Amino acid sequence: MARRNRPLFARWYPDAAARLEERGLAALRARLLAPLEGRVLEIGCGFGANFPHYPGAVTELVAVEPEERFRDLARERAEELGLKAAVVEGTAESLPVETGSFDAVVATAVLCSVDDQAAALAEIARVLKPGGALVGFEHVGSPGRARRFTEKALDAVLWTHLNGGCHLSRDTLGAIREAGFATDDLATERLPFLPWPVSQSPHLVGTARKPSL
Ligand SMILES: C[S@@+](CC[C@H](N)C(=O)[O-])C[C@H]1O[C@@H](n2cnc3c(N)ncnc32)[C@H](O)[C@@H]1O
Repeated sequence: MARRNRPLFARWYPDAAARLEERGLAALRARLLAPLEGRVLEIGCGFGANFPHYPGAVTELVAVEPEERFRDLARERAEELGLKAAVVEGTAESLPVETGSFDAVVATAVLCSVDDQAAALAEIARVLKPGGALVGFEHVGSPGRARRFTEKALDAVLWTHLNGGCHLSRDTLGAIREAGFATDDLATERLPFLPWPVSQSPHLVGTARKPSL
């Protein structure tokens, strides 16, 4: 099924999200991306909020983004920063890159929004080298039954439609494990500087690893 474009979301999201950077998001991005090196693929790069945080040891950056407005903004951002990044059209479910060719895949606040998490994670596993890292942060469904029920209800009636396909209730850790990744270096953290209701959600933060051969 072809992904539906979300031009309205792409219009309001960049300004709203940019305000969160100095409240703690930029520091989180910097912490996560600092160890990266080699060939890196970012999926759902949005307007390029991660771009200032890629270290010099990253030798090549390819960023895949389905929304045209985000791609334009990300290209502008890369140019401002003097960062060599190829920003290309595509979706996580069908990545337009070669098998086994990246040292790391970065996904920040993206697995909540992809149409098909299992397909996206299978693609991420395909394009990573053995031992490669899936790095990022994602808000996930709460463990308690009452909260999870509320999150599912919010997703169904309002949240997902207003927020570019985002879901509050996903079991992303389960999906990452199901896709065969080792999850020892993924922690659960609260990110209280994010807006409600995401501030109330647990966040998966860190690195999942594709097994070595
Ligand atoms: C909440 S924004 C996060 C943007 C950016 N990663 C960040 O950290 O600011 C979600 C992003 O995922 C992208 N996205 C949604 N569905 C996608 C899909 N199926 N494949 C790849 N990216 C997708 C959106 O276009 C948007 O850029």
